[in-house]
Amino acid sequence: MNHNNFIEPAEHVKSIAEYYFSVKLQEVAKMNAEGKNVISLGVGSPDLPPSEYVVEELSKVATRNDVHGYQPYTGIPELKQAYADWYKRSYDVTLNTSEVLPLIGSKEGILHTSLAFLNVGDGVLVPNPGYPTYTSVSKLMRADVIPYDLMESNNWMPDFEALEKMDLRHVKLMWVNYPNMPTSANASIELFEKLVAFGKKHSIVICHDNPYSFILNDKPLSILQIEGAKDICIELNSMSKSHNMAGWRMGVLCSNEQFVKWILKVKSNVDSGQFLPMQKAAIKALSTPKQWHDNMNLLYEQRRLWAYKIMTILGCKYDRNQVGLFVWAKIPDYEVGSEELINDLLYNARVFLTPGFIFGSNGSRYIRISLGSSATKIQQAYERIADYLIKRNTTY
Ligand SMILES: Cc1ncc(COP(=O)(O)O)c(C=O)c1O
Repeated sequence: MNHNNFIEPAEHVKSIAEYYFSVKLQEVAKMNAEGKNVISLGVGSPDLPPSEYVVEELSKVATRNDVHGYQPYTGIPELKQAYADWYKRSYDVTLNTSEVLPLIGSKEGILHTSLAFLNVGDGVLVPNPGYPTYTSVSKLMRADVIPYDLMESNNWMPDFEALEKMDLRHVKLMWVNYPNMPTSANASIELFEKLVAFGKKHSIVICHDNPYSFILNDKPLSILQIEGAKDICIELNSMSKSHNMAGWRMGVLCSNEQFVKWILKVKSNVDSGQFLPMQKAAIKALSTPKQWHDNMNLLYEQRRLWAYKIMTILGCKYDRNQVGLFVWAKIPDYEVGSEELINDLLYNARVFLTPGFIFGSNGSRYIRISLGSSATKIQQAYERIADYLIKRNTTY
């Protein structure tokens, strides 16, 4: 008997689609299996390893006999302390360990936070364009997703006047993320002050997602630098991009003790902690010297020059003050849309870039290039695209 005839997934599962990259990268893998050798500049996954001594610590601790059991739900105390020390050093934010919750990557923090705060029908403000998980997780919670516009004309900042005009009475959470993905707009203290004030005025929990502050950015900022921010804000942070540890799944959530307790209540029912050698290695990684980040940023700068060149031959317009792991640019008016352009480049130039429409309607005329590949690879992508454009006999 085929049970699929009788069994339907939950309504909230029907309300979301499989993650774009989960689907598209299967297509890219199929092209590669056919020998097409696609250059993928899509996903924001750094290509290089963390510092050597981080991997050494992982290997060394993993050889011990006493490290293979379950670990505390809250993470080991030394890891929480290491995250707190990292916040002090990096952002001058003082946290005690009860205000820190290690995560299995910051992505899961989006789910746990939503589970901890949202009732069915509660309003959630999500940026358009923005990281798609804010919307899909909110839909899974059967919350009322309320997109708020980020526009290039406003430097991709929230428009607080427009927000004030909305009916905010049932809004419980607001997702924000600066340095912003996908637009690469930077954070500022003024923005964070406005967000904290907005959250307090309307009793809205401000969830700031902060995975990009160390990349191509002179001054990493945290929303928790604002006085009183901890009362109303939750900040997610991550070692994925900043320490080249995307596959390790090391993230952290910081807020007031009460919020952390509620979120831990959820999380401790979902997972059973992280492998101890990874936690030990993450502690080492959290004291990575500034010089290491500076060296990474020199590499990212070289990569970004090639990404700019790609955008230029495609006729795209971009801001040179971008920060973070991506270059974001507006496609020319004569292009049909970002999805068509990206597919054209994928099938004909064998280069995969990210179409902006996946981040929301305000991204539909933009494309994104990840800097998570070597300058040589990005240069090769440039050459493939240049050759294709000549063949297509089109000037952009
Ligand atoms: C804005 C944003 N938040 C969160 C994440 C997830 O990061 P992590 O690897 O820590 O789960 C990403 C990853 O691409 C991201 O772009």
